[in-house]
Amino acid sequence: MRLQNKIALITGGARGIGFAIANALSREGATIAVADINGEGANAAAEKLNAAGGKAFSFSVDVAEQPSVLKTLNAVVAQCGRLDILINNAGVGGNTPFLDTPLELWNRIVSINLTGAFLVAQACARQMVEQGHGGKIINIASLSGQRGGNGRAAYGSAKAGLELLTKVMAVELSEHGINVNNIAPGAIETDMAATAHDAATRAAYNYLIPMVRYGMPEEIADAAVFLCSDEARYVQGHTLNVDGGFRTAGLMFGARKAPMVSA
Ligand SMILES: NC(=O)c1ccc[n+]([C@@H]2O[C@H](COP(=O)([O-])OP(=O)(O)OC[C@H]3O[C@@H](n4cnc5c(N)ncnc54)[C@H](O)[C@@H]3O)[C@@H](O)[C@H]2O)c1
Repeated sequence: MRLQNKIALITGGARGIGFAIANALSREGATIAVADINGEGANAAAEKLNAAGGKAFSFSVDVAEQPSVLKTLNAVVAQCGRLDILINNAGVGGNTPFLDTPLELWNRIVSINLTGAFLVAQACARQMVEQGHGGKIINIASLSGQRGGNGRAAYGSAKAGLELLTKVMAVELSEHGINVNNIAPGAIETDMAATAHDAATRAAYNYLIPMVRYGMPEEIADAAVFLCSDEARYVQGHTLNVDGGFRTAGLMFGARKAPMVSA
């Protein structure tokens, strides 16, 4: 129960990585505010957490719209009393080649994955500063923001921006006792991956991942619990990759990789 008496807001918490993090934080004793553009999904997620013995509430939000973000944060604070933890997770995937990316698609992906994350983080950080007891902010970035992958012009650029935003937030919010860190997932088995990754994409990922498998949402959630806990109090402005070694890997030979060729 490392997060007992903590209040945690999780955007995009209706499913996937967000729900897995909500579940893990709830198991550690936190009260959970699930906020999602899918209001029914958020309700169902909160019901599941409550059925498992947790304490959870649901909220509708569109993170790309500032009035919606502010209204939701007010509702969360009115319901839960304060805010200690933000999991800034809501996002949409993108897999369109650079030459074919229309401005509308670019704007949509950036407005949710980068501007939306900024709006939520700013509103929550202001709340934490006002409360005066510090806090934890975890931004969910992506391996796609660190490598130039096919089809990731808009998505990767937005996630790279989020990683830099995290560093600035960490620097500026240190004096308020707020820890700001990133988790950068690699390829994770969620509905987003099911939509965005075809068979060729999956094979390409598995070739590049030393552990030769996709990660599970629960593996991201375990990292989030650590970053939200007091054990991570001196971790600041860091990006924790949870990616099966993808970011680290260079040349790889072996049975499950490129075959060794004798001279
Ligand atoms: N799945 C992966 O392989 C992977 C890899 C790296 C990073 N990520 C990141 O992890 C996060 C979660 O991804 P996931 O795979 O669980 O995705 P998902 O599509 O399964 O879930 C995303 C959730 O965000 C919500 N959402 C979308 N737009 C929103 C908006 N405007 N306002 C509020 N909520 C909104 C959706 O309704 C959904 O519940 C995203 O930020 C994603 O970019 C995922």
